[in-house]
Amino acid sequence: MEHDRHGARQPERFNPERAASLNDRTRFDYLPPKDLISLLGLEPKGVLIDFGAGTGLYAIEIAALCPEISVLGVDEQEKMLEFFSENLARSPLKNVQALWTKDEKYSRLKKTADGVLALNVLHELGDRAMEEIQALLKPSGRVLFVDWNSEIERPVGPPRDHVYSPQEGRLRVLDFGFSVLKERKFPYHYALLCGLKN
Ligand SMILES: C[S@@+](CC[C@H](N)C(=O)[O-])C[C@H]1O[C@@H](n2cnc3c(N)ncnc32)[C@H](O)[C@@H]1O
Repeated sequence: MEHDRHGARQPERFNPERAASLNDRTRFDYLPPKDLISLLGLEPKGVLIDFGAGTGLYAIEIAALCPEISVLGVDEQEKMLEFFSENLARSPLKNVQALWTKDEKYSRLKKTADGVLALNVLHELGDRAMEEIQALLKPSGRVLFVDWNSEIERPVGPPRDHVYSPQEGRLRVLDFGFSVLKERKFPYHYALLCGLKN
């Protein structure tokens, strides 16, 4: 399914030519995967969907740190999935997979996720993608939106006017019927742990 980007702060697609920057493990210094895992609070045997997984750097690291959960990294760009698959081929892990959102299997993921991670992608998500994330969650599921903070002068990440402030990000997720359960700031990011409103 082709996504319209209506509602997105930054409606242009991520350029796969910049994919190599996503594989930089120094990202873990300012945004540690274990902190994201702890915010998500997944139970053993839980299913985590990494929405907009890119090259899978975080999906693979989280799967390595949590062998008891299943991680499914999804992306709308086939080219990104190729980079992700190359990274997966170098990993012995069995609990992480990559899936294209145009694959028929993706349409069967509704209400299957205990957790969704949406990392560095909220500013790119149009209204339809926000609804898709909601549809992926089990009723008790949680989504962790983590994105670049527009209020912070940063040596890395997109220009400040392409992303939201924590308050704008909060309003964006509230608009889609999520409830915000927890908020946290990282050096360059804000994080919003959300549930589905009843
Ligand atoms: C900035 S990259 C971040 C990748 C990864 N989360 C990370 O932090 O390494 C954003 C990714 O989200 C994907 N993406 C954007 N909108 C999407 C959508 N509606 N559905 C699935 N993937 C999407 C892009 O193709 C891109 O690979």
